[in-house]
This record gives sequence, structure tokens and C-alpha cells, in this order.
Amino acid sequence: MGKHGKKQSLNHRRGKRTSYTVEDDNEDEIHDYPPTSSAREVALSNSDQESQEDEENQEKEKGFDGTNSGIPSKYSLYQQSVQSPKGDISYLQKFFLMYVGGRAPLHLQEDFCGTALLSVEWLHSDARRTAVGLDLDVEALNWCLENNINRIGADVSSRISLFHGNVLQPLESKLVNGNPLEIMQNMTLEDNEGDSMAGTTNSELQGSPKAVHDTKSLKDVQLPARDIVCAFNYSCCCLHNRKDLILYFKHALNALSRKGGIFVMDLYGGTSSEGALRLQRRFSNFTYTWEQAEFDIIQRKTRISLHFNLHKQHRKIRHAFSYSWRLWSLPEVKDCLEEAGFRSVHFWIRNMPDSEQIRRTDGFSAGRDVKYEEATSFQQQDSWNAYIVGVA
Ligand SMILES: C[S@@+](CC[C@H](N)C(=O)[O-])C[C@H]1O[C@@H](n2cnc3c(N)ncnc32)[C@H](O)[C@@H]1O
Repeated sequence: MGKHGKKQSLNHRRGKRTSYTVEDDNEDEIHDYPPTSSAREVALSNSDQESQEDEENQEKEKGFDGTNSGIPSKYSLYQQSVQSPKGDISYLQKFFLMYVGGRAPLHLQEDFCGTALLSVEWLHSDARRTAVGLDLDVEALNWCLENNINRIGADVSSRISLFHGNVLQPLESKLVNGNPLEIMQNMTLEDNEGDSMAGTTNSELQGSPKAVHDTKSLKDVQLPARDIVCAFNYSCCCLHNRKDLILYFKHALNALSRKGGIFVMDLYGGTSSEGALRLQRRFSNFTYTWEQAEFDIIQRKTRISLHFNLHKQHRKIRHAFSYSWRLWSLPEVKDCLEEAGFRSVHFWIRNMPDSEQIRRTDGFSAGRDVKYEEATSFQQQDSWNAYIVGVA
């Protein structure tokens, strides 16, 4: 049977209709060279290598789409190939201590959270920690509930709240899980001294527990003011105009604690980011492809598509994820953060291996020791990654 005859829609899962397709692996388009892009974040550090190994060990145990199809969920594949929550969290802690200090960061908001893997990892390291995740994609949030949150035990899962909505109107977003009352009960008073709660005031904290249960929007739910708000995997590139970017930054600033807090996002760039590019990374059970379309230099826009090729199943999940991105520049982001009201902005950058070079070498060894360094000036490269820290 030909490729199209065997095309299998995966829209039977909970949530909105999925737009990706699974195809027979009968095209010779997978080249076995290591990838870069967001996955290069995972590939280039020692700690990331360890978490990569952990994830590959778990690969057999989890991630199938809940049916008997034998096809792993695209979210599971994404988490294994793209995300690196431990590395991100260690930088978040470092930035908080450097730019705020005086207390341990406990309360995280992960905007554009997708399956909220970072939030779940955040909760594990300290029993006092809470997390809020916000995303537009209810299917990703539902997958998170079933696969990331339901497995972590009530003591951990009671400390996370997931909201479905738009980062440009966060207060209107709807709670899809959790018991915010428990979050409040777990908090000590000094956690919020001098702060108002998100969408409410301290005096309202004494309100009836039932009112908390009955309300479902973020504006009505009582949550601890956040120490850190983050937006990772280049998610701010989903916002295409300056007005929206500033509005989003204002919302992020508003969620942060009056005692001090930080907003952290990541960004990529370099000469190789402004043109078509196709990069792949091989895992034990699948190959991940980052496909970058042509780059529009007037709008600074490109389309990024993520594909997965499943080795054992001889199947491809093409366009598992597809994003229309505006590639912001570092100074544009700095200007917008300042305009939104952040007190200072810091860049932490690392050079990435040339995309040409890593086509011919092992992605797990190339540049692994390169760490992020704070920079006020950085010469253009083929490829770089940056954390941008806005201090409230
Ligand atoms: C590149 S993914 C990043 C997911 C996750 N943060 C990570 O680190 O892998 C971008 C996410 O942003 C979400 N998104 C895009 N625009 C959004 C918006 N305006 N408000 C909320 N979420 C949005 C998408 O649904 C998607 O889950």
C-alpha cells in the first residue's frame, strides 16, 4: 500500500483535533546527522546528557498515545527530544540568586507551558515549590494531566495549577486541573508577605474556600505571587508584533512578587537561523527533525516544523508540531522588556556548533562544555542560544 493509503489520522485522542499525520516510512529523507536548533540545547551539556539518558531509559515505559496503535504520543517524543528541564531550572535558580537573592525561589509560572514538563520538574526538587502553567493548547494540557501530573503523586500534583488560555489575556484563562486551595494551605504566611495574590488581594485570601473551588479563571484563583515567570523553547517568537510582546511582558511582570522576581525567556539566532535549514538528531527509537523554512527578512518570520521518524514502527509523524515564528532580535526584546517596566535586562549567551559542522560530527560531543556566559556584547556566529533575564 502506498504512503497515502496508509496515512493514519491520530485525531482520536482527547482534546482538539490533531493536525499531524502518521505515514509509512517509505521515503528516503532521513539523514543520520546530529541536529541543532532547540534540541541542540539538550545535546551540548553534560547534565543534559545525563537527563537525555534518563529519558531514553524511560522511553519504553511511557509515551504511547494511550491506544493499542503502538505509536508514541507526539508529546512524549517532543519531551524526549526537545526539552531539557533540569538544565533550564539550574539556570533559573542561578539567575534568581544573582539578580534577586535573599530567599529561595519557590513559585514558578511557566507561560507557553505545553505539557508543563519544566513545571513538574520544578515541583520535585522542593516540597514548598508551586507551579502555574499556561498554554493555548488544551490538548497539550490534557496530555500533561494524564501523563505528567497523574503520575507524580497527590503531594506533588496538588502544587501545580494548569490554565488554558492566551498569555495576552492570562486572567481570563481557565483552570483545567488542581486544587488551588491546597496550594494556599501548603503555603506559609511569609511566602506572600508584601505581595498580593495573582488576580486578587491579600484580604481576599480569607474568603470562603468554596468561592475558591467555584471559580475557574486565573483572575479569581488565589495563587502565590511568582518568584520566576519563564517562557521557553523560543515561545515568545509565537508573538508577532511589538505591541503584543510588550503586553505579554507586562502580564509577566504583574505576576511577579513585589519582593522581587525575574522573567526568563530563551531565544536563538545566528546566520544559520535566517534561512532554510533541516537538521536531525537520532535517538534510540526515533529520529527527530527540525525543519526551518525560508526566512522573510522584512517580517523576520519563518515556519518551524518538527517531524519524528519512528524506527521500530517504520512510521513518520510529520508536522507533529508547526510554529509560525517571528525571530526577535536581542535588542528588540530588551527594549520591550524595559518598556513593559522591567528594571534591568541581562543576556546570557552561548555559541553553538556550526550547523555545517554538526552535520558531520557526533551531536552529543560537539561543544558539550560550552556554558552560557553573561554578555553585553557578542559577535555574530553561525548559531547561538540565549537566555534573556528581565529583573522586576
Ligand atoms: C514552542 S512551544 C513551547 C512549549 C514549551 N514551553 C517547551 O518548552 O517546550 C510553544 C507553546 O506556546 C503555546 N502558545 C502559542 N501562543 C500562545 C499564546 N498566545 N498563549 C498561550 N500559549 C501559546 C503553544 O500552544 C505551544 O504549546
